[in-house]
Amino acid sequence: MAESVEADGQRLPLCASAELAERGRAWVWDVLQYGRPARAFAVRFDGVVVAYLNRCTHVPAEMDWQPGEFFDAERQVILCAMHGATFAPGDGRCLGGPARAPLTAIGVAEDGGQVYWYPSRDIRPLPPEQPAPGSAP
Ligand code: FES
Repeated sequence: MAESVEADGQRLPLCASAELAERGRAWVWDVLQYGRPARAFAVRFDGVVVAYLNRCTHVPAEMDWQPGEFFDAERQVILCAMHGATFAPGDGRCLGGPARAPLTAIGVAEDGGQVYWYPSRDIRPLPPEQPAPGSAP
């Protein structure tokens, strides 16, 4: 079972629905987990958009074998490129390999052709870009 998704209720736009093909390349974005930079990814599996922190639960490493590529060759499981742990795309539970714990799930929703994600207490959006010092307002 994936770790619980504790959304705080305010959704943020992530990408157009059309960006996520069934079992295709992921949409990858930057977040803050406990205030530290991390990456997250969203994929479509069996028609449903799911999202997880891009951090393996064996060793805290990013898992994609090419940028945005998380599925195995058969496109059945999420495969960690480091040591081959596999995870169920639908709920993030660990299916095999050296990892044991599930992936950290991120709440997502699809509405009107747009995918949204839900920040949580632990996983937050990056702050708005600050203007460079000395730049015009
Ligand atoms: S870091 Fe993912 S299986 Fe080892």
